[in-house]
Amino acid sequence: MDLGWFRPHLLTHPDHVQHVLRDNTANYVRDGQGMFWRPIRRLLGDGILSDGPIWQASRRNLQPLFSAKHVDSLVDRMADVLASAVAELEQRVVPGQPVDAGVEMSRIVYLTMIKLFFEDRISPEQADRLVPALDAIATSITFRLLVPFVPNYVPMPGDRTFRRAVRTIDEIIFPIVREVRSAPGSGDDIISTLWQARGDSGEPLTEQQVRDDVVAMFGAATETTSVVLTWLWPLLDAHPEMAARLYGEVAAVVGDGRVRREHVPRLRYTRMVLDELLRLYPAGWLFPRTAVATDAIGGVRIKAGSTVLISPFLTHRMPAFWERPLEFDPERFAPESAVHRHRYAYFPFGGGPHQCIGRHVFAAEAPLIVASILSRFRPHVTSGQPRPQAAASLRTGAPVLMTLSPAERRMAA
Ligand code: HEM
Repeated sequence: MDLGWFRPHLLTHPDHVQHVLRDNTANYVRDGQGMFWRPIRRLLGDGILSDGPIWQASRRNLQPLFSAKHVDSLVDRMADVLASAVAELEQRVVPGQPVDAGVEMSRIVYLTMIKLFFEDRISPEQADRLVPALDAIATSITFRLLVPFVPNYVPMPGDRTFRRAVRTIDEIIFPIVREVRSAPGSGDDIISTLWQARGDSGEPLTEQQVRDDVVAMFGAATETTSVVLTWLWPLLDAHPEMAARLYGEVAAVVGDGRVRREHVPRLRYTRMVLDELLRLYPAGWLFPRTAVATDAIGGVRIKAGSTVLISPFLTHRMPAFWERPLEFDPERFAPESAVHRHRYAYFPFGGGPHQCIGRHVFAAEAPLIVASILSRFRPHVTSGQPRPQAAASLRTGAPVLMTLSPAERRMAA
C-alpha cells in the first residue's frame, strides 16, 4: 500500500497470514517501537500486548487464568451477573422506545468483566467512571492509529481526551492494585495472579507492570466483545428466518428460567450465528507486525523493518475462499462445513503464539449474553443497517437503535 511516506504490505491470502502469524512468527514482531503500537503503548506500557521476553512473561503469568477449563469454572459467576443486568434492563425498557444497542452491550459486557476481573473490588460508582474512560480511549485514539507516523509531541485531535481518560483509569486501578497486594483475597482473580507472578530472575512484577496488564486485558476483553455483539441485532433484523431459528433454540434450551452454565453447550445454533458474526465483523479487524529480517512472501520482497498488515476483515470476505462472502449465513459453521477450510481463511482471534488469550471467555460469555437477552426480549432495529467504521476495533458507523418487546415465555424442552 502506498500511503506516501508510510508503505506497509497488506497481506490477505491465508497462506501468507499463516506464514506471518505461525510459520515464521519469530521474524514478525509486535514491535513496541513500531508505528502502530506507539499510540497504544502510551496507555498500556509493555506487557501482554507487546512482544519479546516481557510479553512472554505476561502471557505465561496470565495463561492459566484463561484456559478453557478455568474459564468454564467462571461461567456460573458470569451467568449471575448477566441475570441481574438483563433484569435491570427489563425494568428500564419502555415499550416502543428504542435503546442504543452499543450502549447496552457495553454495559452488560463491562458488568460481567468487572466481576470476572476485579470480583467486588470496584464499586458501582467507580465502574460508572471507568467505563466512559475506557470508551473514550477506544475512540480518541483513532486519529493517531490512522496516521501512526506522526510523533507523539505533535498535538492531535483526541489527545486531551486520551490523557484525561488515562488519568481516570489510573486513579481507579492503582489503589486496587495496591490493595490486592496487601490483601489478596481468594487469589484467583487477575490482579492476585499477577502479583504472584515472578520474572525470569525470580523478582515480582512492579506496580506499573501489574496496572499495565490489568488495563490491557480489561480493555481487550470489553471493547471487542461489546462491539461484535452490537453487530448482531441488525443482522437478525435483516434475516427473520435465522432470527426465528435462534429464538426457537433459546426458548427450547433456556425456557422460562434464567440462563445457566449447563445451557451453553446446547446452544449450538447460537454458536454458529456467533461464528458467522465474527466472520463478517471481526472486532480485531487489522493488526500489524514488523519484519525483523528481510523475507519473501508470495514472491514479494519484505524488507527488514517494514510493516506488514493483517486483516481478518478482508480475508474473511475473499471470494476465493468464501462462497457468497458478503452474505450472512450461519450454516457455514455447521460442524460438517469446516472440514475443507484453510486454517487461516478464518482467524477472528488471530493465530500462532499471540492468538487471543480471551477466546474461551468470548466463547462462554457471548452465548450467555445472547441467550439471556433473547429469553426475555424480541429486538427490532429501528435505525437501519449500519456501516463499519474503522477505529481501534470495528465499530458501527452510527448507533444501532432497537426496541425490545417482551419474548413469549415457555418451558425448556
Ligand atoms: C470478540 C471478541 C474478541 C476478538 C475478536 C479478539 C481478537 C483478538 C485478536 C485478533 C488478537 C491477536 C492480535 C495480534 O495477533 O496482534 C487478540 C489478542 C488478544 N486478546 Fe482478544 N479478542 C476478543 C476477546 C478478548 C477477550 C474476551 C479477552 C480477555 C479476556 C482478550 C484478550 C486478548 C489479549 C490479552 C490478546 C494478546 C495476546 C498475546 O499477544 O499474547 N480478547 N484478540
